Amino acid sequence: MMGWRLALLLLHVLLCLVNGVSSGRTSSYVRTEYPSTDIPLESEWFAAPNGYNAPQQVHITQGDYNGKAVIVSWVTVAEPGPSEVFYGKNEHQYDQRAEGTVKNYTFYDYKSGYIHHCLVDGLEYNTKYYYKIGSGDSSREFWFETPPAIDPDASYTFGIIGDLGQTFNSLSTLQHYEKSQGQTVLFVGDLSYADRYQHNDGIRWDSWGRLVEHSTAYQPWIWSAGNHEIEYRPDLGETSTFKPYLHRYQTPYLASKSSSPMWYAVRRASAHIIVLSSYSPFVKYTPQWTWLKNELKHVDREKTPWLIVLMHAPMYNSNEAHYMEGESIRAAFEKWFVKYKVDLVFAGHVHAYERSYRISNINYNITSGNRYPMADKSAPVYITVGDGGNQEGLASRFSDPQPDYSAFREASYGHSILQLKNRTHAIYQWNRNDDGKNVPADNVVFHNQYWASNTRRRRLKKNHFRLGRIEDLISIF
Ligand SMILES: [Fe+2]
Repeated sequence: MMGWRLALLLLHVLLCLVNGVSSGRTSSYVRTEYPSTDIPLESEWFAAPNGYNAPQQVHITQGDYNGKAVIVSWVTVAEPGPSEVFYGKNEHQYDQRAEGTVKNYTFYDYKSGYIHHCLVDGLEYNTKYYYKIGSGDSSREFWFETPPAIDPDASYTFGIIGDLGQTFNSLSTLQHYEKSQGQTVLFVGDLSYADRYQHNDGIRWDSWGRLVEHSTAYQPWIWSAGNHEIEYRPDLGETSTFKPYLHRYQTPYLASKSSSPMWYAVRRASAHIIVLSSYSPFVKYTPQWTWLKNELKHVDREKTPWLIVLMHAPMYNSNEAHYMEGESIRAAFEKWFVKYKVDLVFAGHVHAYERSYRISNINYNITSGNRYPMADKSAPVYITVGDGGNQEGLASRFSDPQPDYSAFREASYGHSILQLKNRTHAIYQWNRNDDGKNVPADNVVFHNQYWASNTRRRRLKKNHFRLGRIEDLISIF
């Protein structure tokens, strides 16, 4: 009995730290392990698979609203080939088939391969599926696991990666992530950085697709777009926006009644994930604004208590890089994030790591005089994970002194892991890339914002609270 009391006391102390009793910290750790240059195209990391017209750049993403479908995508180079996925629950035995579509595009003098997208739906929850694409000797086989059914206590682990690019630092981030227990990646924008090359060379989209295939073919990556996906080049006659990104990376936007693949929502296990576009119109009355207003109204926290938002440009950022670039979207959406008690907002763009306290600046309206963000229990925690390791290098100049709203910040490369344990608690850690092993540099236990209310907590204690779950939380410390 005493053991339990001690454990609960320890947990209470830890949670006090989480809730912002401690002051912010700027880590002195600065690391640039590899030069910020892209891996050469002839590297083995970009090698195309063997065989004539073999499928390459294979990636999957969630294909519906509730996690019972995936979209399988790949590229063939020599000819279109079949746009079909064979799949089943037993390895090498494919008793089901889905038919997809194929298309290609040009960007100035680049001509893409044949890009296939195939919706595989009607899947069972919590099930491992094997799948095969391509034909004859060139066919390739992969597998994925579906998430548990939508349930408030469904545990699930997400990885969060941003601004990845294709340097050896990017590769290191990817390899560290693959050693984790992450089941799905929440990607916060800026994928290949192909736009840094002359004429936005699409060859670097292809190499990126091959680099990340080791992860993206086996687990869903939930995509959001960054500024490097815009690729607006009127000087080259390329006047549409997001052209390569939209051709290569599909999202299930129709399932959440969105009018654009750039913003959408999915539900997975106990999470409701909202993807926003920092570079699409979002001011009042625009389609994204209207969609978000409606989506937030329909979030069912009784079923999916963890409300998570992804965007590219951070709303709170105390780095000199991209300072204030998220201010306009903050002005548009922050009051809703507070009203609907969003748990976490993940962003990228700034090539460093930063986590805020629960703060808001919703009382600021130019004339109110309330200039500063204030502690706000209903506000999300804002986390910037733009530290994937792309060729632009680290954003190592933080503003000084550290603002009150900033809890922890560090300029080095890494990724985050978010373990949703049950409806009330999640364990979060940010891992810097360090000498080949995972080094958690920022650990936090998050209370769910919906179930944190006193009334609901009392109801939960009465009906659901199981001490066994506390053991999971304590075991990490
Ligand atoms: Fe960016």
